[in-house]
Amino acid sequence: MKNILITGGAGFIGSHVVRLFVNKYPHYNIFNLDALTYAGNLANLADIENAPNYTFLKADICDFDAICRIFSQYSIDGVIHLAAESHVDRSIKDPFAFARTNVLGTLSLLQAARLSWGEDVAYKRFYHISTDEVYGALELDSPQPPAPYGREFFREDTAYAPHSPYSASKASSDHFVRAFHDTYGLPIVISNCSNNYGPYQFPEKLIPLFINNICTGKPLPVYGRGENVRDWLYVVDHARAIDRIFHRGTTGSTYNIGGCNEWKNIDLVKLLIRTVDRLLGRPQGSSDHLITYVSDRAGHDLRYAIDSSKLQRELGWQPSLQFEEGLEITVKWYLENTAWLQNITSGDYERYYHDMYANR
Ligand code: NAD
Ligand code: DAU
Repeated sequence: MKNILITGGAGFIGSHVVRLFVNKYPHYNIFNLDALTYAGNLANLADIENAPNYTFLKADICDFDAICRIFSQYSIDGVIHLAAESHVDRSIKDPFAFARTNVLGTLSLLQAARLSWGEDVAYKRFYHISTDEVYGALELDSPQPPAPYGREFFREDTAYAPHSPYSASKASSDHFVRAFHDTYGLPIVISNCSNNYGPYQFPEKLIPLFINNICTGKPLPVYGRGENVRDWLYVVDHARAIDRIFHRGTTGSTYNIGGCNEWKNIDLVKLLIRTVDRLLGRPQGSSDHLITYVSDRAGHDLRYAIDSSKLQRELGWQPSLQFEEGLEITVKWYLENTAWLQNITSGDYERYYHDMYANR
């Protein structure tokens, strides 16, 4: 493979994947296809935008004709598909946007790849990036510390049981990807990852939103009782896993990716407060009063936890950072990149945010 199309490369995870591939594989041509929705931001890639092996293509994955032209014009032979509507709260407000991009957009890419590649798929690959949310929710009774095996964890053979419009749309796209493998022999691979955190995450997601709010003294809206559990992974470790799976994963397979790092939301929020206050030189406890319990997210999944032993065993991947270390790097990054944050927390986003939280 030589000409790699990465979709959603101007978003959070996509920008880390583009950066890793552009820097690590100078012999590849990396095409970053992105519609630049509210979540896409070319400033995320300012450091590599002039690299000789990097090209940005502004396009909507739902525009089938445009996607077919891109496959033909650039002789695309590998796809890493991250473009998506990705925020659960938005999916509750506007499920159609999620069906459009996540289901129809994925279908459009699959069909374009199939038509472009025909029978000649020996050195082709369509890699679909998905989420652990397709598996539904787990109970809270996990052993501590979490063991890497057992029925309490999402495994690759766990039945799909999505609850939100977002996870339903991602589950649907996963099924289409597998159907194209089973029906047409498209050489696909899928990974399902747990919650990512790190630099360049759009500040509607828990960690960047709360860092920003702690800095600016705004309320921290904790949904329900803050009892929900997520398995957090540093975004660069996700990008490293994507690199391994893209190059060495078995065609037709699924790989789960996770941090083996479960945190109850309220404990994570308290750790965030301690970290931000310490780094800003504030007395400990000075931001505790910002914690504000608000009404719960509809259909809020109780617990996610990934068993990533297949990926570790078959491809030798391991998370590289301890969570406290990754969180410290992340908080410092947001504190040092206030211009990036201010740029996207003004204007439309500010209005959206007020609208979203006004009634909670
Ligand atoms: P993001 O919302 O930060 O970025 C999504 C990107 O896709 C943006 O650049 C946006 O402009 C682009 N995009 C959206 N609609 C498009 C369209 N119709 N055509 C072309 N581009 C479009 O998302 P993220 O958090 O980086 O997630 C990336 C992928 O990883 C998604 O598929 C998501 O489901 C999956 N994922 C995310 C996480 C997480 O914790 N964030 C975890 C597991 C899996
Ligand atoms: O598990 C992978 C998924 O992780 C990805 O597929 C999604 O794209 C990504 O957005 C993320 O989904 P979550 O819904 O888990 O992430 P979010 O950051 O929105 O919320 C994390 C937890 O924090 C969740 O239990 C809801 C809670 N929360 C979130 C926000 C934004 C709050 O309590 N208050 C908030 O304001």
